[in-house]
Amino acid sequence: MPSIKINGITTIQSHPSNTILETLERAELEPEYNCRDGHCGACRCTLISGEVEYVGFAMAYTQEKEILPCICRAKSDIEVKDVKYTLKERRA
Ligand code: FES
Repeated sequence: MPSIKINGITTIQSHPSNTILETLERAELEPEYNCRDGHCGACRCTLISGEVEYVGFAMAYTQEKEILPCICRAKSDIEVKDVKYTLKERRA
C-alpha cells in the first residue's frame, strides 16, 4: 500500500481502491472538498513527489504539479503539500 505524506507533518497508508480524498477521511482527517468530482478545485493540493492516477476527469483548473485528491489515487508513495484539512472532532 502506497503511503501519503501530508504537508510534511504526517504520513498515512493509502488503500488502493480509495481516492486520496477518501484515504484522508479514513485517517480521521477532514479535508476540504465541495464537489468530489473534479469540478470545483476545493480539494486542490500540490504533489511534491510520487505518482498518482486519475479516476475521473479534472475540470477544475490546476497548475503544473497540482492535483485534485477527490478524483485520483496514489500509484506510488507520494508526498503532497498545501492540503487543507482539519482534524476530526472526537466525540465521547
Ligand atoms: S472536491 Fe471539487 S475538485 Fe475535488
